Amino acid sequence: MPVRSIVRLGHPALRTPAQPVVAERLSDPEMQALVDDMFETMLAAGGVGLAAPQIGLSLQLFVYAVVDPDAEPAAEGEEADDPELVALINPALEPIAGELVYDWEGCLSIPDLRGLVPRHFGVRVHALDRHGKILDYRAEGYAARIVQHEYDHLNGVVFLDRMRDMRSLAFGAEWEEFLTESDDEDAQVG
Ligand code: NI
Repeated sequence: MPVRSIVRLGHPALRTPAQPVVAERLSDPEMQALVDDMFETMLAAGGVGLAAPQIGLSLQLFVYAVVDPDAEPAAEGEEADDPELVALINPALEPIAGELVYDWEGCLSIPDLRGLVPRHFGVRVHALDRHGKILDYRAEGYAARIVQHEYDHLNGVVFLDRMRDMRSLAFGAEWEEFLTESDDEDAQVG
């Protein structure tokens, strides 16, 4: 499965609303190969989410990994659990009422920068899975943040647009040195 190249800020694909996927196309082996390539590309880049516009494709499709940032690291000699990988096609998000929460984000298309971004704590997700099955579920906390970040990519929006105060913007090394509270934390990057 080939790793695709990730486009960076300035590429018009990141600023163009993506086209819906025709559901019948999901049975096309090329579409299934694309979803596999996106997982591969995301994992190879060390991200937790990747949207089709980030590989230059105008499709309402993104993938993400369900990871628990507060999970205990695997003990020595133990394998860490593989994250659950999810692909969402033609997603729609419904915010669940509540206060916005701020947390750090980064983006594979905006290498090395981190910033504090407000997001809904919870969202209801309507989408198709990679086989065309209808999905309807709630995502909360970290997973909801990833879903909102990737969903934005389908609308030509990046996390910088969501920041309320650009003064938190930082490069990775400085962020780690000055801005994180503990050394095992990491900003989600998608
Ligand atoms: Ni991103």
